[in-house]
Amino acid sequence: MSDDNTKAIEARTIKAEKEVKAIEEELDKLIKGDLSYVSDPQLDKLLTENEKLKHRLAILENAIKAESSQIVKREPRKRPMLITNINSIEGTLCLVDELKNIFTIAIEAAYPDLEDPPVVITLSGNNPKFGDYQCNSAMPISQLLKAKNIKTNPREVANNILNRTPPSPLVEKVEVAGAGFLNIYLNRPFAEHVLTCILKYGIKPPPVKRERIVVDFSSPNIAKEMHVGHLRSTIIGESICRLLEFLNHDVLRINHLGDWGTQFGMLIAHLQDQFPDYKTESPPISDLQAFYKESKKRFDEDEEFKKKAYSCVVELQSGNPDFIAAWKLICEVSRKEFQKVYDRLNIRIIDRGESFYQSRMVTIVKELKEKGLLEEDEGRFIMWGSEERTGIPLTIVKSDGGYTYDTSDMATIKQRVQEEKGQRFIYVTDVGQYNHFATIDACARRAGILTGDLKVEHVGFGVVLGEDKKKFKTRSGDTIKLIDLMDEGLKRSLDKLVEKGRDKVLTPEELRKAQEAVAYGCIKYADLSHNRINDYIFSFDKMLDDKGNTAVYLLYALTRIQSIARTAQVSTEQLIQEVEKSGIKLTHEAEWKLGKVLLRFPEVILKVSNDLFLHSLCEYLYEISSTFTEFYDKCYCVEKDKSGNIVKIFYERLMLCEVTARVMTKCFDILGIQTVSKM
Ligand code: ARG
Repeated sequence: MSDDNTKAIEARTIKAEKEVKAIEEELDKLIKGDLSYVSDPQLDKLLTENEKLKHRLAILENAIKAESSQIVKREPRKRPMLITNINSIEGTLCLVDELKNIFTIAIEAAYPDLEDPPVVITLSGNNPKFGDYQCNSAMPISQLLKAKNIKTNPREVANNILNRTPPSPLVEKVEVAGAGFLNIYLNRPFAEHVLTCILKYGIKPPPVKRERIVVDFSSPNIAKEMHVGHLRSTIIGESICRLLEFLNHDVLRINHLGDWGTQFGMLIAHLQDQFPDYKTESPPISDLQAFYKESKKRFDEDEEFKKKAYSCVVELQSGNPDFIAAWKLICEVSRKEFQKVYDRLNIRIIDRGESFYQSRMVTIVKELKEKGLLEEDEGRFIMWGSEERTGIPLTIVKSDGGYTYDTSDMATIKQRVQEEKGQRFIYVTDVGQYNHFATIDACARRAGILTGDLKVEHVGFGVVLGEDKKKFKTRSGDTIKLIDLMDEGLKRSLDKLVEKGRDKVLTPEELRKAQEAVAYGCIKYADLSHNRINDYIFSFDKMLDDKGNTAVYLLYALTRIQSIARTAQVSTEQLIQEVEKSGIKLTHEAEWKLGKVLLRFPEVILKVSNDLFLHSLCEYLYEISSTFTEFYDKCYCVEKDKSGNIVKIFYERLMLCEVTARVMTKCFDILGIQTVSKM
């Protein structure tokens, strides 16, 4: 459990304890009051009030029990090992974590009696006056001391911490400032060393404990359209997988296709009527959605057909090979369509649709029944996420005996925990499914499937809107086909490149690569660079803008950085030789500033791997690019004479350009965006 989590739980426990106390006082008053003087209706009211309070009291007390058991479970803090020699760092270091270690030791030495004092390290912001990072622990610690009746103030606390701060090769100096901030200034030799390591060994991920992580994303439904919501899930999910794989996790990419359910009855019935020899000849269905609409129409209008559709469902679910074959045919048509989108966007995913869980659904229903967790409700069987029956229950068995989306997700989580041995379970869908997944989590916990730290992590995202801020539609009001959307992206990106005269500079092959990188890159980046929780407005004009935080701007910036060494006619081999000689030097203020931004890569990556908000990675990419511009404005990398001949090459700056390019390339790679060397 993270420290922040513990803090939050403690705060909630304290709050709940206060509430319990208040209720107890109320109850006390009620009980002690002489009830005989109260008239009957008033007495009734008081008694019901009493009942209600008792009920709330019980809930709160249970909550406290649950939360404090979590607190007790926490392992005692291990004394961290500090880095004492920069040569022991091989280029991957989460700076903020090491600073946290340093100040943990300082604070524990200064206040050994405080149990688990807060260690808060943040970036200092843009003003170099406040150092590079700061430790903001002095204020909360002085509060804690006050609560123990120890007189002090934040400045005094800050000074005490400062006096106990162990030396570190990462830190040049620490200063107490303002009301009790500890400003931390980084050490240049350390930064130079880490950046030089990136040139020598490449970008390595910060070390983390390897986990098995299931990422459920994309997941469109067979015979229905794959809409922009699925596009978002696909883009975000792919990026999450790339990030976690970069950190060396064992990632299982799952396409939870909607490939099971009663709609297949009517599809199969329709298929059998339309293409009687479907078993020997593959039916030429090109537009499965039209096919779906036709069968739905017949289903709604024709009683005979309806009956047939129902019997098809029964045959299918009992595993009749003919019906399975028909079902497979239908799935394949859809799957081929989906693959077109995946190929273009370079998505890797394993199909494992709802049908995979058919037998597992039977088992889980049985188990839930046996555990007494199901309740009958007008012929159906439901399950509540909490014993208090709050929220909306899952429908585990419908009144006709059929299973639902809820049933399949209960079977799914069980499979992922018990068979896959997953340790993190990520689901990428629109925010509208938030409650569904919260209830799945709660029910899986009640059923004993999820225990301890295991949980359902719902990665929600908002809807895609058109530029009119209404639901994303074509001009004629139809829903947009994803393939058409991508074709339009390709067309627009080519227009943009031609507008800039790139067709005259690039070879046709280079132009095509640039066109695709820009088209798909801009669609992905526009999605990923916004806070996913919010709705987002799909606008080709905005995403193809070459100014601001867009893929186009950043891809251009990267090609420009990469071309600096090329124009100086310095080869990578030459640069590496220079690295062996001297390594990076961050002498100029602008170099130092850029160096410090690049140093933050591991902490940005680790943060995103926790909260799964990819827009922070995009913001970081943009920050690198703007800090680079500042550096490039102020620092010559190559000096030329009046006639344009190179007179001096600043190798150390070229090295810094190279590191910048490598970090940016890695960010693009994680975002799933193709980079190009020329555009
Ligand atoms: N097919 C669903 C939809 O289109 C998404 C499935 C998400 N994954 C899951 N395990 N429920 O909304």
